[in-house]
Amino acid sequence: MNEVTVIGLGPMGSALARALLQNGSRVTVWNRTSEKAEPLVREGAVFAPSVAVAVSASPIVIVCVANYEVSRSILGTEEVSTALAGRVLVELSTGSPQDARDSETRARELGADYLDGAILATPPQIGRADTPIFASGSEIAFRRSEPVLKIVAGNLMYMGESVGSASAWDLATLSTLFGAMFGFFHGSLILESEGHRVDSFGSLIADISPVLGQMIKHEGEVIQTGTYEKPQSSIKTCMGTAELWVKQAREARINSDFPTFTKEVFRKAINAGFENEELAAVMKVLRKGA
Ligand SMILES: NC(=O)c1ccc[n+]([C@@H]2O[C@H](COP(=O)([O-])OP(=O)(O)OC[C@H]3O[C@@H](n4cnc5c(N)ncnc54)[C@H](OP(=O)(O)O)[C@@H]3O)[C@@H](O)[C@H]2O)c1
Repeated sequence: MNEVTVIGLGPMGSALARALLQNGSRVTVWNRTSEKAEPLVREGAVFAPSVAVAVSASPIVIVCVANYEVSRSILGTEEVSTALAGRVLVELSTGSPQDARDSETRARELGADYLDGAILATPPQIGRADTPIFASGSEIAFRRSEPVLKIVAGNLMYMGESVGSASAWDLATLSTLFGAMFGFFHGSLILESEGHRVDSFGSLIADISPVLGQMIKHEGEVIQTGTYEKPQSSIKTCMGTAELWVKQAREARINSDFPTFTKEVFRKAINAGFENEELAAVMKVLRKGA
């Protein structure tokens, strides 16, 4: 039977603990606000009276709290530090690659194996076979925690021993998601201004997402190989679209923040001489920073 401790019972930590309980694992939990543990205790979890007791209860200790600062403050006491020796600490709070490196250094000093993870899902998606988690850090820590992590997210991806990798892939993926979301929100303004349904728009995007994914994949290959010269979509063509968004926003009197931002990036790329290159040539402008 898997024995695992979950520290942090916000929406995500609670979902992790519940998925583990449903799988038959022995789950010990701790949360600053103890009332949040009550539903899980009714489902079979053991509530530990302190963080040190929670850590001592299991060989695998998952932490999922608001951020790494909170995690450090929870795990920072002498009692907890002593209890961590010999265990696998799996940090699933969201943080930066440097946060992960700092946590790994501290865990090693305490004699714990450390794995950094990033969950690419919402709490209701926890426990599914297709739910992704990126993990990075010690391969020993990964192998020891793999059976437990696969219960909470079947699509577990080990990104290697370099501990900052999970966070880097997570932040990059979230950047892609939020970029698409802002485009979607502006698209929703356009459709609302013409009296169309936004829920149908969401469904349509979900249906055609493999085609959109192919376009992103192509741009990734172009960036990696630096082959911008034979464009499928030139920056000049894309600028035409951005200008149309701005025009439509003016005509419909809707917000134009997203079109204006996009047009500005294209303008910089055209000024730099990349007008007839692939869309991804904006990277050459973005790499120069602000
Ligand atoms: N929710 C999502 O969709 C999602 C998706 C992917 C990743 N994540 C990541 O998962 C982590 C947890 O997220 P969440 O959605 O469960 O909610 P959250 O609001 O980010 O975190 C809530 C947890 O942090 C604890 N906490 C906050 N400040 C604290 C402090 N000063 N001392 C002790 N504990 C403190 C809370 O304890 P109390 O209950 O006592 O306040 C609770 O256990 C975050 O890093 C988040 O980025 C969340």
